Amino acid sequence: MKKTILSGMRPTGKLHIGHYAGVLKNWVKLQDEYKCFFMIADLHALTTEYENTKTIKQNTYEIVADWLSCGINPEKSFVFCQSDIPEHSELHLIFSMLTPLGWLYSCPTYKEQLKEQTTKNLKTYGFLGYPVLQAADILLYRSSFVPVGKDQTPHIELTRQIARRFNNFYGNYFEEPKELLTETPYITGIDGRKMSKSYNNCIYLTDEKEEIEQKVMQMFTDPNKIHKNDPGDPENCVVLAFHKVFNLNEAENIESLCREGKLGCVEDKKNLAKILNDILEPIREKRKKYNKEKIEEILFEGKQKAQKVAKQTIIEVKNLIGLI
Ligand code: TRP
Repeated sequence: MKKTILSGMRPTGKLHIGHYAGVLKNWVKLQDEYKCFFMIADLHALTTEYENTKTIKQNTYEIVADWLSCGINPEKSFVFCQSDIPEHSELHLIFSMLTPLGWLYSCPTYKEQLKEQTTKNLKTYGFLGYPVLQAADILLYRSSFVPVGKDQTPHIELTRQIARRFNNFYGNYFEEPKELLTETPYITGIDGRKMSKSYNNCIYLTDEKEEIEQKVMQMFTDPNKIHKNDPGDPENCVVLAFHKVFNLNEAENIESLCREGKLGCVEDKKNLAKILNDILEPIREKRKKYNKEKIEEILFEGKQKAQKVAKQTIIEVKNLIGLI
């Protein structure tokens, strides 16, 4: 029997090449080894975007299309949308009864976000309970592992605490899931800051060939390397940072050529643009197969399959508690 894993993404915008390198490549691999649940966490998006919900649905379609074109296979895995399966909300409510407030107030992600997101009112019941909803997502499918980035580990720890508390009260039912930490490479945006939608410095999976070429041409390089044959400082170069993630085999060689003044930035950039386009071309091609109707169909099938598992858990949980 394959072990179960679950992971999710909030539908807050289309995906960039950093998501591909850091998350999706890994998910695609995991599909062979595990029974995988990949979820659009749209209820999670509501916890911070409740004032501005108009883009959630469109973002859901975009992200699912991104997943599928990168190789997530709905025949192998469960691909679904959180709000389509009301059992997430039901288990969340049940867990909320037994989760002490102290656990939530002391969660590092809660404290950080409250400080950082000054334009939104996040002093809400739902936002405080964000990790309880995440615990419900994970435990609803009796997941053993949760592939996440480091920032999410407090939520997985909280999931284990909730599982333990439930088991203490009602009988040993939930396995305590473990995080599957993925070595996410740090992805620089074209301006040298972290790649992020809010900095407008992303290379998106949907960018056309010419767009990629333009963006690579804008990448920040060593300002002291003016002529092609000047020796450069690759430490200060976004192009090299990309080679290290997307062209690892050649990165070292490129680095020494740059230091020795044997490689001009324009040539280096043309080379990188080609490498990125070679990665993205099959993804762009595959994406053409997925229009809105096709995605809706896939999400509907995913819902049917996942809900079977979810319903079973809810019945067993209610039974243990004594509600039925
Ligand atoms: N909290 C995750 C994030 O912000 C998204 C998420 C929701 C998730 N439910 C999950 C991740 C369950 C892993 C497992 O990225």
